[in-house]
Amino acid sequence: MPPIIETDQLYKTYKLGTVNVEVLKGIDLAIQEGEFVSIMGPSGSGKSTLLYLIGGLDKPTSGQVKVKGKKLSVMTDQEESILRRRTLGFVFQFYNLIPNLNVEENIMLPILLDGKRLKAYRHRLEEILETVGLADRRRHTPQELSGGQQQRVAIARALINQPDIILADEPIGNLDTKTGMGIMDLLRRINQEQGKTIVQVTHSEEAAAYSQRIINLRDGKVREE
Ligand SMILES: Nc1ncnc2c1ncn2[C@@H]1O[C@H](COP(=O)(O)OP(=O)(O)OP(=O)(O)O)[C@@H](O)[C@H]1O
Ligand SMILES: [Mg+2]
Repeated sequence: MPPIIETDQLYKTYKLGTVNVEVLKGIDLAIQEGEFVSIMGPSGSGKSTLLYLIGGLDKPTSGQVKVKGKKLSVMTDQEESILRRRTLGFVFQFYNLIPNLNVEENIMLPILLDGKRLKAYRHRLEEILETVGLADRRRHTPQELSGGQQQRVAIARALINQPDIILADEPIGNLDTKTGMGIMDLLRRINQEQGKTIVQVTHSEEAAAYSQRIINLRDGKVREE
């Protein structure tokens, strides 16, 4: 089986005026389907940048990202947006929930954006609400939820389209340890029971312990252990 995610000599340089900031300097990665991987490294080492490149949210300066064997660089805008909506689920550290939508509506947002009929997804919504333990909070808006509950809404939203891959940038970054470990248990279940490939960025050794492999970023390069 070819890796579900592959990067080949990935470089990313940001230009700030006359200064070049070389963030990624030749990243070669292969992540297999069903793996749960953590990306670690000091602040500013390029972890979020790498995650965004994998997800097609930003473009590399040079090198390639392949998802399911297909190069992102040769995809049309339409193909890329379909990939982002259907193959990938994103979980950001700051949730990105819509404040005036309730839990159900926030979770269903990708379906709406995809122009699909909500009715066909009612059953899946129920399953996902059970999975993340928010069935009794479905009518709450984000401000009426705790941080951990908001994070679970963000995970539920990433799952609604049944993506093969979940990309999570510090999914427990601003939660207390106990709540954070609850989220990690949830991600592990999604990985083990549903076979989803998960790539998380984390600063936490405890969170990384839930994954099968750690990719360490240092000075723009991978030091794998
Ligand atoms: N749009 C941008 N323009 C210029 N430089 C940028 C831009 N985005 C990120 N950088 C720089 O790239 C480097 C890597 O940023 P990135 O956000 O990937 O780090 P990180 O490893 O996720 O850090 P943290 O753990 O603090 O989230 C940083 O030094 C940052 O200043
Ligand atoms: Mg970051």
